[in-house]
Amino acid sequence: MTLIAQITDLHIRPRGLACYRVSETNMLARRAVDALNALDPQPDAIVVTGDLANGPDRREYAGIQPLLARLKAPVFVLPGNHDSTAMMREMLTGVGPIHEGTADKMHYAVDIGDLRLVALDSAVPGAPHGRLGAEQIAWLDATLAKSDKPTLIALHHPPATVGIAHMDRIGLTDSDAFARVIARHDHVARLLCGHIHRTIIATVAGRVMTLAPSTAHQVALDIADRDPGHFVMEPPGYFLHRHTPESGVVTHLAYVEAYPGPFPFFADDGVEW
Ligand SMILES: [Fe+2]
Repeated sequence: MTLIAQITDLHIRPRGLACYRVSETNMLARRAVDALNALDPQPDAIVVTGDLANGPDRREYAGIQPLLARLKAPVFVLPGNHDSTAMMREMLTGVGPIHEGTADKMHYAVDIGDLRLVALDSAVPGAPHGRLGAEQIAWLDATLAKSDKPTLIALHHPPATVGIAHMDRIGLTDSDAFARVIARHDHVARLLCGHIHRTIIATVAGRVMTLAPSTAHQVALDIADRDPGHFVMEPPGYFLHRHTPESGVVTHLAYVEAYPGPFPFFADDGVEW
């Protein structure tokens, strides 16, 4: 069994500051780290699918480094539109081979148990939309051709529209080229994304794409295109992707906070079940 946890969109701020005046992202990220460290069994790896920072701002990465270092499991990161690939490479250590790729784009492939994780960089400096670029997509094609292990491809921007218009307007601009590549590789088992701050499931080129909720604020479920967008303090969460050769990849949504329970399935007298 291979177990990979996914957290996303931490939006860390400089020490003491909330995000958008409301969301205490630093505290909420610490609570997510505590929740992951309490998991038993521990995941084989934790992937952070972008928007680690909210700026990007060096003070934010100065807070992110010790936060991620507290995680017990190996950590892999990739940038979102609020991140800086250059600052991540400059200020983060011990979080996967983030210096692989090109000068502008970090991308790498690692084996984790029975799975392969391919991390991509869809961040465009100074812009909210995403773009992988022809060079990275060619690398992805060549990398997928090298191994037929079940593969999770992690990237911040989902390579599909999701129906929340203000987020779709800052989507991945070269999703068609990406989809053409993964359609050629049957062992692509799952696409892991963030960006939308909601739990969303869709398919791209016949592959399941799962978008994880944020560890902090969520984007309001607005499919009526009311601009501008809003966020809501719905429950922070994360994903646990569990793989066995028999079942393939099965994804569980888990919540960071504690809720009432657990309660036993107590059978009252006279009730058969
Ligand atoms: Fe985000």
